[in-house]
Amino acid sequence: METSARRPGPTGWIGRSAEGSEVSVPADEDEAVNDVADSRETAVAEPQPEPALPVLPAGLADTPIAAAIADATRRRAVLKTVEVRRPAAPRVLTVANQKGGVGKTTTTVNVAAALAQSGLRVLVIDIDPQGNASTALGVDHHAEVPSIYDAVVDDLPLREVIHACPDIANLWCVPATIDLAGAEIELVAMVSRETRLKRALQAYFDETDPDEAFDYVFIDCPPSLGLLTVNAFVAAGEVFIPIQSEYYALEGLSQLLHNIELIRAHLNPNLQVSTILLTMYDARTRLSAQVAEEVREHFPDQVLKACIPRSVRISEAPSHGQTVMTYEPSSTGALSYLEAAKELAGRAAGYR
Ligand SMILES: Nc1ncnc2c1ncn2[C@@H]1O[C@H](COP(=O)(O)OP(=O)(O)OP(=O)(O)O)[C@@H](O)[C@H]1O
Ligand SMILES: [Mg+2]
Repeated sequence: METSARRPGPTGWIGRSAEGSEVSVPADEDEAVNDVADSRETAVAEPQPEPALPVLPAGLADTPIAAAIADATRRRAVLKTVEVRRPAAPRVLTVANQKGGVGKTTTTVNVAAALAQSGLRVLVIDIDPQGNASTALGVDHHAEVPSIYDAVVDDLPLREVIHACPDIANLWCVPATIDLAGAEIELVAMVSRETRLKRALQAYFDETDPDEAFDYVFIDCPPSLGLLTVNAFVAAGEVFIPIQSEYYALEGLSQLLHNIELIRAHLNPNLQVSTILLTMYDARTRLSAQVAEEVREHFPDQVLKACIPRSVRISEAPSHGQTVMTYEPSSTGALSYLEAAKELAGRAAGYR
């Protein structure tokens, strides 16, 4: 459906805003329509001035695509006014949910990328033997690459296994190689088996000038509650739980929370579940809205106002070794992850 008001861009439709600047919406119209209803969920917390909305010719003004353009323009303008500041102390967040495929890795790499693009120094630690976060960040993770395995199992200093991400400044990654698949079993017999990642990270912070240190560390966990995930819980100050907006979302959550309680009681009393993010939200379904409502009811302080729509661009990005923040920055998926990242950064205990 091509019109004079918009034309196909490289990956979506391009229209014109009131100021004459181009705004783009996703190629997938469903995604755009999804975003219209989604906009209520993704507004940033702080009250913001109303930006100018795009003007489209009569006949198009009332279409879902026009509403999507207007909505994306408004959200982008609001985001421009939200400053991202360095937290007073490094924040270490473990991204966990023992349920598989809920968006842990996608959330880790995109929130990390969004914060790095906003000027903060960010490290992603991939502690999942699948190595999906390493792939999405474009970091080599074949068997010979120095990796999290070497730091956790062989006591190699963390600085020796940190790799710069090729596409994004201020973003680094400790990759996971296939070696990590055996680590769960190797760790069982080791001394301090639950605290090895914590000690590696602590040693890194101790030897690093605070100005050069990371502002944010995200640890991408495997979909299990084994020793690797326990190491991540012990090393972190915060747990960040992505929840898929679908029927079984809350199943298993009580087990996850129970395990976190055990960690708090025995290994890391400071650990807090600070952040929950709804992922793969489909605004066309009543189910997504119901799940979102239920999660917000149970965890009013933890759930971010931003939520992530189901998006073709988000799922395509990893196959190009990229995050959606670089693969398709104008997409609604990238916009939503930037909203989530800025909201998360706005919840730091204090700033530098
Ligand atoms: N918002 C989204 N829209 C569409 N697809 C998505 C979205 N978020 C994630 N996906 C896709 O869903 C799949 C699972 O996502 P992801 O790998 O991030 O989950 P995970 O929780 O890390 O999985 P695992 O438990 O295996 O580690 C991937 O193919 C990913 O590209
Ligand atoms: Mg994963």
